[in-house]
Amino acid sequence: MTRIAVLVSGGGTNLQALIDAQARGELKNGTIAAVLSSKADAYALERAEKAGIPGYVVARKEFASNREMTQALVAKLKELDIGLVVLAGFMHILTEEMVQAYPNAILNVHPALIPSFCGAGYYGLHVHEKALAYGVKVTGATVHFVNEEPDGGPIILQKAVDILPGDTPESLQRRVMEQAEWVILPQAVSLFCQGRLSVDGRIVSIKKEE
Ligand code: GAR
Repeated sequence: MTRIAVLVSGGGTNLQALIDAQARGELKNGTIAAVLSSKADAYALERAEKAGIPGYVVARKEFASNREMTQALVAKLKELDIGLVVLAGFMHILTEEMVQAYPNAILNVHPALIPSFCGAGYYGLHVHEKALAYGVKVTGATVHFVNEEPDGGPIILQKAVDILPGDTPESLQRRVMEQAEWVILPQAVSLFCQGRLSVDGRIVSIKKEE
């Protein structure tokens, strides 16, 4: 059984999707063992508590740099014997210590079809503001492995979502979450925990279910 830690900074709807998937028996061979939040008042921590999952605060503001925060996170994850780290609305750039500690064992969900609308400065609602301002007709979500480059790691799953006339950043964010993020994040986590993902350079292969 792979012990999963979910790193959050805010509302935690993606965490909720994982909790719900686990309750339905859809996180095969994985268990959500901990939720780590960069903010003490993140609603995600309440979601964890309601689900009986231990929550920890590793507050960004307690550290002088992202590097120091990353080192504290790695220490906590090792102490908790975590095998898979999931970034679910985690709003800080982790430094290379995290990737070194968890090579090809960190997943991130991003609310766009990478390589569009991603990288430094593209997070949360900003991603949808930029997609609408560019005038694309289709956007979506991506789950990828985390490497040293922000949003640059090998892609595991993607799902497209139509942009509709009259969309606002908020309406688009909601549709991308409902139709894409909350679907593909639990799927990717389950595939990882079943040992069905293999990585060759940028290419992720998914083994068929046995
Ligand atoms: C989600 O849309 C997630 O994809 C995005 O922030 C939101 C968090 O919502 N993450 C990023 O933009 C990371 N680059 P949640 O806290 O309700 O899951």
